[in-house]
Amino acid sequence: MCGIVGYVGRKEAYPVLISGLKHLEYRGYDSAGVGIIGNDGSLRVYKVRGNVSRLKETADKRAHDGNAGIAHTRWATHGAPNETNAHPHLSQDGHIALVHNGIIENYIELKRELAGLGYGFKSETDSEVLVQFISYNRQKYRCTLAEAVRISLHGVSGSFAIAVIDDREPGCVVTARRSCPLAVGIGTDGSCFIASDIAPILPHTKDVVYPDDDDVLRLSLPEKGGVEMMNIDGERREPTVTRVEMSADQVEKDGYDHYMEKEIHQQPQVMRECMAGRVLLGEDRIYLEAFEQNRERFLNASRIVIVACGTSWHAGLVARYAFERYANTPCEVEYASEYRYRRPVILPTDVVVVISQSGETADSIAAIRPAKEAGAFVYGVCNVDNSTIVRMADAYTLTKAGMEIGVASTKAFTAQVLVLMMLVAEMGRAKGVMGGEEYRALINDMVQLPQHIDYILSDESAIRRFAATLLPCRSMLYLGRGNQYPIALEGALKIKEISYIHAEGYPTGEMKHGPIALIEPEVPSVVIATKCGEYEKTISNIQEIMAREGRITAIATKGDTVLEKMVDNVIYVPDIHPMLMPILTVVPLQLLAYHVAVGKGCNVDQPRNLAKSVTVE
Ligand code: F6R
Repeated sequence: MCGIVGYVGRKEAYPVLISGLKHLEYRGYDSAGVGIIGNDGSLRVYKVRGNVSRLKETADKRAHDGNAGIAHTRWATHGAPNETNAHPHLSQDGHIALVHNGIIENYIELKRELAGLGYGFKSETDSEVLVQFISYNRQKYRCTLAEAVRISLHGVSGSFAIAVIDDREPGCVVTARRSCPLAVGIGTDGSCFIASDIAPILPHTKDVVYPDDDDVLRLSLPEKGGVEMMNIDGERREPTVTRVEMSADQVEKDGYDHYMEKEIHQQPQVMRECMAGRVLLGEDRIYLEAFEQNRERFLNASRIVIVACGTSWHAGLVARYAFERYANTPCEVEYASEYRYRRPVILPTDVVVVISQSGETADSIAAIRPAKEAGAFVYGVCNVDNSTIVRMADAYTLTKAGMEIGVASTKAFTAQVLVLMMLVAEMGRAKGVMGGEEYRALINDMVQLPQHIDYILSDESAIRRFAATLLPCRSMLYLGRGNQYPIALEGALKIKEISYIHAEGYPTGEMKHGPIALIEPEVPSVVIATKCGEYEKTISNIQEIMAREGRITAIATKGDTVLEKMVDNVIYVPDIHPMLMPILTVVPLQLLAYHVAVGKGCNVDQPRNLAKSVTVE
C-alpha cells in the first residue's frame, strides 16, 4: 500500500532511490516519483503515472545529482493515479517535499483550515495536505523541519510513514511513522536508508532501526548530526539498532521468471525452516515457544478467535477444523475488517489469534486493540519479525517463510497453516484429545512435508498443460469438503487475483443448493477429492457435475484409481495426516493459478489493483 524510500549519504541519491523503489513495487505501482535536493541546493521533483521503470525513463534524462532524496511508489487511495496525485508532494512555497504511505484521516478538516489561511492545493490527496501542514507549522514556530514534523503529528489522525526533505536544510531527511511500517538502515559510513520494508535497505546495510509510533528521526551524515530521534513530545531517544539476519539475495528472483514462481518452489525449504527447532523428530515432540511460555492461557481458552484477511483468513479457516477436532477447543474465524467494527463479544478467556503475512495489515492490527481491552490473550502468527502485529501481540510465532514479494501469497500461507497445526497438536496432546500414537504419527508426517511438496512440484508440466486449457475460461468453480473447503476458497482467490478469471470456492456439499446451476462445459470445476475427507460423498458430487456436462479436474490422493476413470484431469498429491493435507492440496492450485496467469500474459507479481501489504482500511 504505497512504498516510501529515502536516502542521505555520500553517494548520489538518485540511483539508490530508484533501486529502492524497485524493491517496493509490490506495495503499489500506479504512479511513482522522486524528489532530490541537488548539489546546487535546488529541490527537484519528477513524477509519472505508471511504474518505476516509467519514472526512470523520464527522470534519467534530467539532471539528478545530490546526496539526499525521497521517493515513492503509489497504490492510489485518495485521488486517481495520475501525475498530479503522485508523490512527492510539495509545500506551496516549494521548499518542502514529502512522500507518504498511509491515510491522514482528518485531512478534509485540515485542508479547510489551511485553505482559510491561504493555502492552495493541486492534488486530491491527503498527503499534500500533510506537507502543507508541516510547512505551515515550520513557518509559524520558526523551527527546523524535524521540529515542524513533530508538531504536525499532534494535529493529524490516521496512519502514516513519511519521509520529508527541505531545500533550506540540505543534507538531511526527516522521517516519522504511526501505524505504518518503516525501517531505517544505518550504513557503516553513516549513510541512512529509509524504506517501507527492509528489502531496499539490505543491499546497503544490515543495521536497522525500527521507529516506534510517533518517533521522529532527523537523518544526516555523522558530521552533520547523524541519526537524531525524538518522540512526539520532543524528548530525545536513543535509536535501537537491530542486526537483520537476512541477505539481499534472499529477496531476489533466483533464476525464476517471477517471484510467485520462486516462492511456490521455495515451499519445501520453507517447511524445513518453519519446523527447525520446533518439530523435534528424535524426541517425538513439538516445541512451540509461544505455547510453552503461555500454556495456561492456551489450554484454558474458552475459545480461539482467529482474525485475519484474505489468504491468511483461509489459513484460519483450515485451523478451525483442526482446533475443534484435534484440540476440542471452540474456534471462530473472523474477517478482521468485520471484527473491528462489529463490536464482538470478547471474553477475557479468549485467545485471539491474529494471522498475517506482513504483520502490517491495518484491519488485522485494528482487531488487536479491542481484544486486549477485553483482557483476551493475543497471539500473532506472522512472517515479518518486528512488524506491528508482532510487537503488539502478547505472544507470537514467526512463520519463517522468508520475505514474500509476489503479491499473491503462497509460501506464507503454507507456513501459517503449518504453525497453526503445530499449535493444535500441542494443545490436543496436552488436553489428552490427541493420543500419543496419533501425535507421533503427525510429527512423522510433518517432517515428510518438504519431500511431498517436491513430489507435487515435480509434476508441474502436467499442471502447465492443464492450465493451457483454461485460458479461454471466464468462470470456474473450486470445491472442497471439511478442511479442504478453505483450500477451495484459496484456489479460487489465487486464480481471481492473478489471472482475472472469475472463480468461486464452495463446500462441495453445498453445490446442489445453488451453484450447480452454473455448471456447463465452459465453467470447469476443480474438486479437491483426497481420500481423507468424506471421499465417497465427494465422488457422488462429482457425478452430479458430470451429469450436467461439467468439466472436472480432481486433486486426488496418490494411488487413487477411481477418479482417473471418471474425470477429465487428475492431479495427485501424496497421502498424509488429514491435518496436513491442506498444505499439499493448495500447492497444485497455486501452480495452476500461476500458469494460467502466465499463459494469459498477466503481470503475475503485480496483479492489477492489488498491493502486497494493505496498510490502510
Ligand atoms: C492474497 C493475499 C491477500 C493477503 C491479505 C492479508 O494472495 O496475499 O489476501 O493475504 O491482504 O495480508 P496479510 O497476511 O499480510 O495480513
